[in-house]
Amino acid sequence: MKGKFITFEGCEGVGKSRQIKLLEEYMKKNNVDYLLTREPGGSIISEKIRGIILDKENDKMTPACEALLYASARVQLLDEVLKPELEKGRLVICDRYVDSSLAYQGYARGLGYEFVAKINDYALKNFCPDYTVFLKLTPEEAFKRKGGVDKTDRVELLGKEFHEKVYNGYLELAKKFSDRFIVIDASGSKEETHQKIINALKEKGIL
Ligand code: TYD
Repeated sequence: MKGKFITFEGCEGVGKSRQIKLLEEYMKKNNVDYLLTREPGGSIISEKIRGIILDKENDKMTPACEALLYASARVQLLDEVLKPELEKGRLVICDRYVDSSLAYQGYARGLGYEFVAKINDYALKNFCPDYTVFLKLTPEEAFKRKGGVDKTDRVELLGKEFHEKVYNGYLELAKKFSDRFIVIDASGSKEETHQKIINALKEKGIL
């Protein structure tokens, strides 16, 4: 691929969306051409799948069904948006990608790394981000900082133990994929975290 593919990962409430917004402002100011997209979603079909996955009424959804739906949304986004844009040489930034499935469905929902890796390998044919920015903050700190759990969010409501498993899952992934993971300590102010992200992306030659 000619372009660069950067993903952002982290547990609930770590300030991921805000950091992506700050990065966007930076890139706009510095005339960096980029495409920002998100998972699950980013294309009409993938956004429809997102609606099914995140619908609070779908509380009977099994972990395997959920994992396969995430993979379906992902492969559609990949074929329809990510690959063509990267082929054009663009910088593509994606809010969450396959590591979310490995951490949430694999480690936290209990499907296991192997199962989730297998369905995603089948769907994505090992199409991997160049770098993955992981915003590291424990769920305890994250929820404390944001003033508690958002009761309208199906995933946030899953409980402390679930979020601890997601966090530990990410730490495993950061070790396993240390060549592409950029671990950013997100416990400081939003400006500090932003600066750390900019510095890291500059160091990797992305910005
Ligand atoms: P979203 O509202 O976009 O949350 P966030 O701002 O935290 O990114 O919802 C996405 C939710 O879907 C989030 O809780 C993480 C979860 N998710 C998975 O469980 N597996 C996946 O593969 C992906 C992409 C997301």
